[in-house]
Amino acid sequence: MSFTISSRTLSNGLEIPLLGLGTSTIGDIYEGTCRAIDAGYRLIDTASLYQNEGEIGRAVADKIKDGTIKREDLFIVTKIHVNSHRRGAFAKDFEGSLARLRVDYVDLYLIHWPIALAENCSGKITDGPIVFDDDADYLTVWAMMEELLESGKVRAIGLSNFNKAQIERILKSCKIRPVVNQVECHLVFNQERLRRYCAQQGILLMAFSPLGAPGRTIIRTDAPKLLENDVVVELARKYGKTPGQILLRHTIQRNIIAIPKSANPQRIRENIDIFDFALEPADVERLNAQDKNLRLVENKVWEAGKYYPFHDDY
Ligand SMILES: NC(=O)c1ccc[n+]([C@@H]2O[C@H](COP(=O)([O-])OP(=O)(O)OC[C@H]3O[C@@H](n4cnc5c(N)ncnc54)[C@H](OP(=O)(O)O)[C@@H]3O)[C@@H](O)[C@H]2O)c1
Repeated sequence: MSFTISSRTLSNGLEIPLLGLGTSTIGDIYEGTCRAIDAGYRLIDTASLYQNEGEIGRAVADKIKDGTIKREDLFIVTKIHVNSHRRGAFAKDFEGSLARLRVDYVDLYLIHWPIALAENCSGKITDGPIVFDDDADYLTVWAMMEELLESGKVRAIGLSNFNKAQIERILKSCKIRPVVNQVECHLVFNQERLRRYCAQQGILLMAFSPLGAPGRTIIRTDAPKLLENDVVVELARKYGKTPGQILLRHTIQRNIIAIPKSANPQRIRENIDIFDFALEPADVERLNAQDKNLRLVENKVWEAGKYYPFHDDY
């Protein structure tokens, strides 16, 4: 059985599923993507930085070949690498994504981060020192994104990890407005101020780590376990759903796209099975009240970058 996902219309008229597959791991994502497509997922979120576009490309090609989907059924999201904000590197990184994903266009292309790193810097502290490229301004990157859109190789362009002031700066000079801002967003960091600002600007939020990234090393060590939150557990009992489904339903009822990552067939199906019930408004309010303005994914190793976005309130 495959599930049907509700969608929203982006400000450029493109339909986008309200739920997609997050993929930021390596090794398990070929199988995970195949199982997700079988279950009805159509939006797949990846990035050049994740080094897994090849696995996803193989899964997409196999699922097209076996007749489960056509290319046009999918909504593929990928992102320019933080070390490719200069013109030559930008083109090379984008063409690399297309080749690895085995597609001739991407549905939504995002600037992964406003900060820029030197071209030979992977961004991982384990690979060597972090070298910033602070002269590479994200306004110039946005102009290259606009050129890509005009070339037809991407159907929509957007941002990720941009704060309000950075979005305002883009909006002041852009020819084409961003349609999405992908940011950390979940029960204890619900981004209501940024959501409201973006909604006023016609920009949809896309929530990464919507389950609080349980088990992932990217989160702060004292991160609360959202799946064990008392209110979430109580509502899971009330609605006959799992804690994960309550967290994801809460996200999409706030008009925010959720991209939970799973490579486990059972959890992949669990996470998409949220379109057959609705949280009552009072329960949405109770979940909203769990917010602690607590960012779990801080990426402190990039904090010294000129355009590090998390010094601002939101
Ligand atoms: N733009 C950015 O800078 C940025 C940053 C971080 C993430 N992202 C994107 O957002 C996606 C999601 O974020 P995330 O991976 O950090 O966090 P997440 O989706 O909140 O959590 C993923 C973790 O939860 C587990 N899980 C999934 N479903 C579950 C369920 N129903 N019950 C219990 N555990 C469950 C997964 O393990 P199993 O695989 O074993 O199920 C995985 O370890 C990423 O994969 C990536 O595509 C973007």
